[in-house]
Amino acid sequence: MSASFPTAAASPVAAAAPALRVRDLSVRFGGHLAVSSVDLDVPAGRISGLIGPNGAGKTTTFNAICGVITPTSGQVELGGDDVSKLSTHQRARRGIGRTFQRLEVFSSLSVRDNVRVGLEIRQSWSRRRAAAPQFLAGGAELSADDEVALIIDRLGLVEVAEVPVGSLPTGQARKVELGRALAARPSVLLLDEPASGLDEQESVEFGALLGTLAASGLAILLVEHDIALVMRVCSELSVLNFGQLIAHGTPEQVQSNAAVLDAYLGGGGNDATAVERAAVDAGVNVSDTSWSGPGAPS
Ligand SMILES: Nc1ncnc2c1ncn2[C@@H]1O[C@H](COP(=O)(O)OP(=O)(O)OP(=O)(O)O)[C@@H](O)[C@H]1O
Ligand SMILES: [Mg+2]
Repeated sequence: MSASFPTAAASPVAAAAPALRVRDLSVRFGGHLAVSSVDLDVPAGRISGLIGPNGAGKTTTFNAICGVITPTSGQVELGGDDVSKLSTHQRARRGIGRTFQRLEVFSSLSVRDNVRVGLEIRQSWSRRRAAAPQFLAGGAELSADDEVALIIDRLGLVEVAEVPVGSLPTGQARKVELGRALAARPSVLLLDEPASGLDEQESVEFGALLGTLAASGLAILLVEHDIALVMRVCSELSVLNFGQLIAHGTPEQVQSNAAVLDAYLGGGGNDATAVERAAVDAGVNVSDTSWSGPGAPS
């Protein structure tokens, strides 16, 4: 299944300028530099991965991109516009959507109403009806009810549409959160561990769904510890360790990078092995040592 969905690399919009550009982003918490001079380019039509061991600074980077926290320094550009001085809701309105590591849903509301919240927030920003994004209906105009129904359908949640989200398994609840984010019609989607709680089969299906979203033009930045998923769906990876970017490149380049393997081993887990195993599972040539050194752009 993973081989059949349209990959970002195959997308005709893959060569477009970055939808999201981050430059020299640093975040300091007291004496602790959680994010240090991070640069990221997230192009439309692709899934870009941001990986790294626990505490590497991934969620903090997301929070700074969204404006939830004020970075110590750095610049965030969306579609070529500097949004660094804008508030969180202004950035959301400009097209930054996200999901959260700690699931953010309305547990007592149904799946349908959770998705509707995202749509109503978008409508509160502007009465102007923007064209629906390609992943919904090829750009066709939709009523609010139809759009909510279509998102629920695309996410495979039709059978639980009227069920309160609090009674769903985590994997389905995470899809609901994705649906809420999509209903706001983002151009850039930041996903913080969206596959946590998914079993292997669900993870494969979820990767296919992300591939479809990216192929319709969305720019996706994926933070994920499910290395198999990352290796399967991402066009390129940036690797953080102790707040610093230690590698950037294709999954093939990153999986064979010594600094990356050291970082994961240094994290105290077996993730380095997981990186190699997932690379093999995803069909990556693990003997490819074409990586040109930590920090080098692809
Ligand atoms: N509000 C905060 N105040 C102080 N320190 C913080 C705060 N938020 C995060 N940190 C610290 O910043 C560092 C980066 O944390 P962050 O949550 O961004 O890591 P992460 O890469 O998302 O990790 P994980 O994979 O475990 O989610 C950690 O050392 C963390 O303890
Ligand atoms: Mg995190």
